[in-house]
Amino acid sequence: MSSPAIVNLWMLLVCCILIAVKGGWDEEVGLLRRGGKQRQFDYFKLALQWPGTYCRKTRHCCSSNACCSRSNSPSVFTIHGLWTEYNDGTWPSCCSGRPFDQKEISTLLEPMRKYWPSLSCSSPRSCHHKKGPFWGHEWEKHGTCAYPVVLDEYEFFLTTLNVYFKYNVTEVLFEAGYVPSDSEKYPLGGIISSIQNAFHTTPELVCSGDALEELRICFYKNFEPRDCAHDTSSRGSCPQYVSLPAHGSWGFRSNTTAAS
Ligand SMILES: *[C@@H]1O[C@H](CO)[C@@H](O)[C@H](O)[C@H]1NC(C)=O
Ligand SMILES: *[C@@H]1O[C@H](CO)[C@@H](O)[C@H](O)[C@H]1NC(C)=O
Repeated sequence: MSSPAIVNLWMLLVCCILIAVKGGWDEEVGLLRRGGKQRQFDYFKLALQWPGTYCRKTRHCCSSNACCSRSNSPSVFTIHGLWTEYNDGTWPSCCSGRPFDQKEISTLLEPMRKYWPSLSCSSPRSCHHKKGPFWGHEWEKHGTCAYPVVLDEYEFFLTTLNVYFKYNVTEVLFEAGYVPSDSEKYPLGGIISSIQNAFHTTPELVCSGDALEELRICFYKNFEPRDCAHDTSSRGSCPQYVSLPAHGSWGFRSNTTAAS
C-alpha cells in the first residue's frame, strides 16, 4: 500500500473508534461523575415488612424501634426499602451520592415515621462499613443507585412513599379477608393471587417460620408494576399456609424487661 492509502485507512479507523466511543460516552460520563462504576439498574423492587412478624424478634427496647411504642405501633405493612435490581438477579449497591442527611427530608418526617419506621434497635451497616440509622442505610446502599431515575435523597424518599401509597398491599389483603390473626393460617396461593388481581404483578414473599415477614413488588423504571426478574419461586421461604400475626401478642409483651 502506498503511504497516502495507509494514512487514509488510519483516519477511517480513528474515526470509527471515535464514533463508537462517543455512543457510550455520555452515559458513562454521567455515571463516572457520580463516582459510580456500576452499570445502571434495570428495575425497582419495593420491599414491605409485616411488623407483626418482625416484632416477634424484639428482645429489648429503645426509642428508635417502632415495635416498642405500643400506642402507635403499626398494624399495616410498612416500608423496608425501594431497591434497584438487575434483570439477572443481582443488584448494584453503594453507588455514589451524597451521604444521608436527615435535614434533607425534614418535611417528610411525619409520614416517614409512620410508614417507614425502623423495627429494630440495631444500626445497620451502610456503605464503607459505616453504621447508621435505618433510613441512612436505605439511601446510601440502594437509593444512590436509583440515579438517574431518582436524583437525590429527598426525591428517593418521596418517590418511595408515593409508590407505597399508590399500591396499598395492606388494603388488598385485608379486603380479601387476610387480616391479622394469631390463630388463622392463610393459603399462600390466595395471598399471591389477590395481589396479582389488584396490581397485575406477582409478589415475592419472605417468611419467618410460617409467618409472612416481607412482601415485595417490582416496578419498571416508570413505576408501572412488573414481575421481579429472577426465576426463583415467588413463594420464597414460605410454606403453603402462612400466618399474619397480630402485632404484640407474640412479640414484645411488656416493657418491664426493657434493657434501655
Ligand atoms: C413503658 O411503660 C411505662 C409505664 O407503663 C410507660 O410510661 C412507658 O412509656 C413505656 N415505654 C415504652 C417504651 O413503651
Ligand atoms: C392502606 O390500607 C389500610 C387498610 O385499609 C389503611 O389502614 C392504611 O391507612 C392504608 N395506607 C395508606 C398509606 O393509605
